[in-house]
Amino acid sequence: MSSVKAGVDTYQMYINGKFVDSLSGKTFPVYDPSTEEVLAHVADGNRQDVDAAVDAARTAFDSGPWSQSTPQARGQVLFRIADIIRKHTPELAELETRNCGKPIVESEYDMADAATCFEYYGGMATKVLGHVNPVPANALSLSMREPIGVAAQIVPWNFPLLMAAWKLAPALAAGCTCVLKPAEQTPLTALRFAAWLEEAGVPPGVVNVVTGFGESAGAPLVCHPQVNKVAFTGSLEVGKKIVKMAADTVKRVTLELGGKSPNIFFADADFEAAIDGALFGVFINQGEVCSAGSRILVEKPIYKKFVDAMVEKTKRIKLGPPMERDTKMGPLVSKEQFDRVLNYMEVGKGEAKLAAGGGRAMNGGKGYFVQPTIFYDVANSARIAREEIFGPVAAVIPFENEAEAIRVANDTPYGLAAAVWSRDIFKAFRLVKALKAGIIWVNHMQPTYVEAPWGGYKQSGFGRELGPWGIEEYLETKQVYINLDEQPIGWY
Ligand code: NAI
Ligand code: MG
Repeated sequence: MSSVKAGVDTYQMYINGKFVDSLSGKTFPVYDPSTEEVLAHVADGNRQDVDAAVDAARTAFDSGPWSQSTPQARGQVLFRIADIIRKHTPELAELETRNCGKPIVESEYDMADAATCFEYYGGMATKVLGHVNPVPANALSLSMREPIGVAAQIVPWNFPLLMAAWKLAPALAAGCTCVLKPAEQTPLTALRFAAWLEEAGVPPGVVNVVTGFGESAGAPLVCHPQVNKVAFTGSLEVGKKIVKMAADTVKRVTLELGGKSPNIFFADADFEAAIDGALFGVFINQGEVCSAGSRILVEKPIYKKFVDAMVEKTKRIKLGPPMERDTKMGPLVSKEQFDRVLNYMEVGKGEAKLAAGGGRAMNGGKGYFVQPTIFYDVANSARIAREEIFGPVAAVIPFENEAEAIRVANDTPYGLAAAVWSRDIFKAFRLVKALKAGIIWVNHMQPTYVEAPWGGYKQSGFGRELGPWGIEEYLETKQVYINLDEQPIGWY
């Protein structure tokens, strides 16, 4: 790592097992959002760099050191990656927190989850099974599973290394090679991580990390004819563009596009647990969570008390420097996101009643800190109830009865997640069936397990990550017919 400015590192890209400058020689700055200061300079990749990375991934895939290695050998490499992440968690977690602003304790959880993800798919590498198809006795018919090839993986800034792990681990277990493009705001942990891949036993070219912006690095990666599959997590707007770009070369695509997830509270729910669940659902990770429970639906008999209790407890949320261990909320990731969220707060003031927060949080005047914010009496047609804000902004919506709760909950173009809180199992399970979302929590919101599928209904995207579903997205199915008849067909 060379230096552009004293004390500020420059991070190169990782292509074909080497750290390299961008071919243009350009870099861009990344920031510490809690101080607004430049944290590092990063290679600014564009089409040429993408070409080099895809070439490396293609060559590595076709020449076979990874795709044709034994599943057991691949699994062992993934276990080593998990160990390396665990061993270097203090360094990785600090880098993550400095770059994206999330509280250090949450970054440590993310690193633990990333390690678990590599371990899980390390174990799964040897459990990818083919199939014998039940055809007539004069033939043997097989279904074989093969890695799809080169995977382009575009990830966002809210869980930078964890989202990379969700994509890299199943792809590597399947035998694919990868070109990862981290978000331009938060590329540092992926680059630091890449430096250990060789030690873990990943051959050159199998994982490449191209840093750069969406239009200049992400788009050429999606369009590249030698890429076989695109996995994307990010905004709905970019997700739509990706589907269109991928159409020209008929690539397989999976999308995780966030949401406006309802967190539904019936009057019979455990009240204290419900308040915690409402706040955790929408404020964890500064609200920068794709499954944030940003629409809080509350049954009328408890509505007033519920809003008051939320406001009271919100006062206890400790906002502050994200490296401090008792901080519960750090700054938003970037100036752009800060402006966007503040703008939604202003929109909300014109659409609903403000119960808490509503503006910038001063932290000595520096950093992209915003107040945890609660709007109530929100109509489900309001912009703050329809558009993903991706910040700590709750829209509380009253409802009359179960039928109305279901109708309002499902009245959204999104369908990533939903949660329902009730002690009545009949009612809770009726909602489990009625809600149109890929993830439903009952009496909780947000726990996520690598063993269970993750992905959305409707415009929250398609495809599933994690669990056995996650590896499916990186596999092709080859049907093989073996003739057992030693006769001519006898047709002519
Ligand atoms: P974004 O969707 O623009 O960025 C996500 C990733 O896509 C980044 O790596 C970016 O470089 C890449 N990208 C952007 N344009 C691209 C293009 N034309 N072709 C290929 N790749 C491209 O998200 P952004 O602008 O950072 O945030 C805007 C909003 O998106 C947020 O406020 C939030 O609502 C939503 N979002 C949702 C996420 C989720 O987890 N589902 C994660 C991040 C943002
Ligand atoms: Mg964008």
